[in-house]
Amino acid sequence: MSKECVMITGGSGFIGIYIMKKMIDEGYTVVNYDLAPPPAELQKILDDSDNAGNVIYERGNLLDLPDLLIAGKKHKVKRIVHMAAFFDPAESNRRPYFTYQVNVQGTINIMEMARLINCDRVVNISSIGVYPEKQYEPMDEKHPMFIPGAGHGSHYGSSKAASELIGQAYCRNNGVSYVSVRFSGVYGYGMRYSMFIKDMIENGLNGKDTEFGSGGDLTRDYTYVKDSVEGVYRALMADDKDLVNRTYLTTSGELYSGTQVAEIVKEMIPGPQITIAPELSEFEQKDMAKRGKIDISLAKDELGYEPRYSLQDGIKEYIEIYKKYAGA
Ligand SMILES: NC(=O)c1ccc[n+]([C@@H]2O[C@H](COP(=O)([O-])OP(=O)(O)OC[C@H]3O[C@@H](n4cnc5c(N)ncnc54)[C@H](O)[C@@H]3O)[C@@H](O)[C@H]2O)c1
Repeated sequence: MSKECVMITGGSGFIGIYIMKKMIDEGYTVVNYDLAPPPAELQKILDDSDNAGNVIYERGNLLDLPDLLIAGKKHKVKRIVHMAAFFDPAESNRRPYFTYQVNVQGTINIMEMARLINCDRVVNISSIGVYPEKQYEPMDEKHPMFIPGAGHGSHYGSSKAASELIGQAYCRNNGVSYVSVRFSGVYGYGMRYSMFIKDMIENGLNGKDTEFGSGGDLTRDYTYVKDSVEGVYRALMADDKDLVNRTYLTTSGELYSGTQVAEIVKEMIPGPQITIAPELSEFEQKDMAKRGKIDISLAKDELGYEPRYSLQDGIKEYIEIYKKYAGA
């Protein structure tokens, strides 16, 4: 018999698939609440689990609160991982209204559902995009996400900051056991937003060269997707009394530039050329303003989170999984 039911919003997305796999492997039943079912290339990850039959797909839109409530009640959902979002920082600046609808109103709806059907925990997936500008390094959870005079470089970033404030207020005032985990540069097979790494690996495995006109000097905290999943799992299962801060940076804690990523990939996939110009585009300059070394000690102390993959390990596994599923 499977354990209680966990709802994953956005389970059909890149990280959502890995979270669903982890949850069913741990013996839970999962409700994937998403606009669409998983695409074939991601479904393969779920199909590798002996418990693939423990995923229930509920087609739905975060903005439809009655529908969320019906799904939550029907499946007796006790915990929620809120992953679904409009996740495209550059595009969010062209579509601010839509970004706030999905990422802010969507989060309000999840908090209302958790309150109205008495869920035991909501883990809200946030981002280092909540920081408008780096004030000090290493950056920790106490680093300001509202800085008078400094706007966020994207509406995506400010929508994520708003989602955290909303979650905290529901926690404090409405009895919702809320936690936010902040991701950075999550990579692995199935990723959508290239962050250089996807193009470098997948072009390379298909024998193609890769060229970027900018970004070599852009440094990121790249986190392997299975480490991100571990952080979510711990936040979902932690004892409420251990969650003193309720906001955690669950990243790798290491910074790599685009040029360094290219060097690692070239070593593992010799042959195809990778060229990346060091300078930054205007959007990359804004993006860099918020990036710095990240302090993950709070997540270690309160969640027992410890990243297990170095960038080399993560790239190696990405290559292996890509070969297995995409046949390159
Ligand atoms: N990938 C990263 O590097 C990264 C970094 C920081 C934070 N995050 C956060 O992690 C989460 C997941 O990211 P991802 O890379 O898996 O994104 P993704 O775009 O692959 O997946 C998002 C999923 O949400 C679903 N969705 C979007 N709008 C919806 C709606 N209105 N109703 C129901 N479902 C909806 C989409 O259909 C999709 O399946 C997001 O909240 C994102 O902001 C990701």
